[in-house]
Amino acid sequence: MRRVMAMRLFIAIELPDDLKKTFASLRTDIPGARWVLPEQIHLTLAFLGDVEEPVVERLHDELSRIRFPSFELRPAGTGCFPNRQRPRVLWVGLEPEQLLQDLAGAVRAAVLSCGIAQEERPFSPHLTLARLKNPAPHGAEHFLSVQHSPFSGFSVREFILFQSCLSSTGAQHIPLQRFPFV
Ligand code: 2AM
Repeated sequence: MRRVMAMRLFIAIELPDDLKKTFASLRTDIPGARWVLPEQIHLTLAFLGDVEEPVVERLHDELSRIRFPSFELRPAGTGCFPNRQRPRVLWVGLEPEQLLQDLAGAVRAAVLSCGIAQEERPFSPHLTLARLKNPAPHGAEHFLSVQHSPFSGFSVREFILFQSCLSSTGAQHIPLQRFPFV
């Protein structure tokens, strides 16, 4: 019997290199923190997990049907999930932008139409910078105090289907397909 191969996938917006460098400079010394490599900082629109190859083909078709205008995003202050008492994920937020919500909704609908399950909770746009192994109320305060940062805005002109390859040295993110806006 032929074994069906699966790929671990997610869909994200890429950031300009200068912004990635700016975010890398927000890194502070927090024990047990795993900081995302600057080149891997991204805005996740949907996490798909393992998807079997025949479904990946269908997914390409569904995603390429999405028609969208370019729009601008502006990073905002810092924050964390799930809360400040137990910060597990440290992130930079984004100024509210309806077009981003709409794009995430269109991507989610395309993913669901391929039978790929999605989380129920609402889309909460963020740029993950670090994951903390031992969430403690102390340590992340300095990072979380960056509330009025002079981050430059950037244009979103495409979204990207990424493969995430896990290894002992961390995940590698490989762009499989770019979906430019028309
Ligand atoms: P986040 O960093 O924006 O929170 C690729 O793994 C991306 O998918 C991660 O950067 C993460 O987004 C997102 N993701 C969401 N749920 C995930 C899960 N259960 N496992 C791994 N990644 C997940």
